[in-house]
Amino acid sequence: MTDKLLLRALAGETLPIPPIWMMRQAGRYLPEYRATRAEAGDFLSLCYTSDLAAEVTLQPIRRYGFDAAILFADILLIPDALGADLWFVTGEGPRLSTITTEADFAKLKGADDIHDHLAPVYETLRILSRELPAETALIGFAGAPWTVATYMIAGRGTPDQGPAHALKAENRALFETLIDRLTDATIEYLSMQVQAGAETVKLFDSWAGSLKGDEFIRYAVEPAKRIIAELKARHPGLPVIAFPREAGEGYIGFAKTTGADCVAIDNSVSAAWAAANVQVDGCVQGNLDPRHMVTGGDDLVAETRRIVKAFSNGPHIFNLGHGITPDADPANVQMMIDTVREGA
Ligand code: CP3
Repeated sequence: MTDKLLLRALAGETLPIPPIWMMRQAGRYLPEYRATRAEAGDFLSLCYTSDLAAEVTLQPIRRYGFDAAILFADILLIPDALGADLWFVTGEGPRLSTITTEADFAKLKGADDIHDHLAPVYETLRILSRELPAETALIGFAGAPWTVATYMIAGRGTPDQGPAHALKAENRALFETLIDRLTDATIEYLSMQVQAGAETVKLFDSWAGSLKGDEFIRYAVEPAKRIIAELKARHPGLPVIAFPREAGEGYIGFAKTTGADCVAIDNSVSAAWAAANVQVDGCVQGNLDPRHMVTGGDDLVAETRRIVKAFSNGPHIFNLGHGITPDADPANVQMMIDTVREGA
């Protein structure tokens, strides 16, 4: 049995004080991250330079002693490895070559051909498994097929995932072929991450909330189910965290139907609702609005305590409902951690 608190919570244990980590814990709100990023030159070089990626992964562990480190990389490295050009425009976000026709799709590589390109990511994990403190769990991750597809189809981030919804309506066969290719590539990628030292993996479906009804089942639930089943077949006992962000009532039963060991909850639902409807099936993670990391004060303390209390009767990993933002104050992160660990 492991001593790592994060792995114990994922195994279904109710702990007196929940383990803590934070989405985007290595990021621009930290001066030491900005310094290493400047050394790397740009964001993608940082992702693909293993010793620097390991360094930024370790920075929030040194500063705060989080219970888990998440691999520093990006969900868009898979499209990059598949051959869709990827670049980041400072202040705007990611850009990729678009996939809207069969000819665009035909240029992509096969799901098994991504490993040479992603070798630096696996090396980052190997460095981290050597260098992390014994009590810190190592989390690998990938984007879920639907979320990654929304960026590949549009060639950028979109507020409503319009281009992906349009392709789905106009050429469903092509859309589904892309989802299948991404599902296969995600299995290969995460499986290699586990071989390189990841002790759990998280599937980020940041845009799951824009899939409704049957389409939520087909393009959020089914791919997650296939990825999780295959990973667990290859790596028995591997715990998996799923994040179908803004799924709303789609959170209900998500762990059971997909086989996920933990469901990450955004901040659009209340912790009390999530405790009653999601935690009944196992571990939950998340829910604190990332704005509290900017605003701090009594509201941060009260809201942190409320979430800890709401989830105190079952397995729980303390986290935010989405990534911490660059304008966050590092002191507020410490205040959140102190509040959780005081057990108040
Ligand atoms: O959580 C972590 O600390 C691990 C590393 C990580 C990053 N991105 C680093 C990153 C993880 C898990 C991600 C996931 C990711 N990337 C998601 C899913 C989670 C979510 O936020 O919904 C998505 C949609 C992306 C795609 C992406 N990457 C966008 C849209 C952007 C630009 C927006 C922004 O914040 O600048 C990124 C860039 C990115 N990924 C940064 C970091 C630290 C900022 C890059 C920089 O240093 O300028």
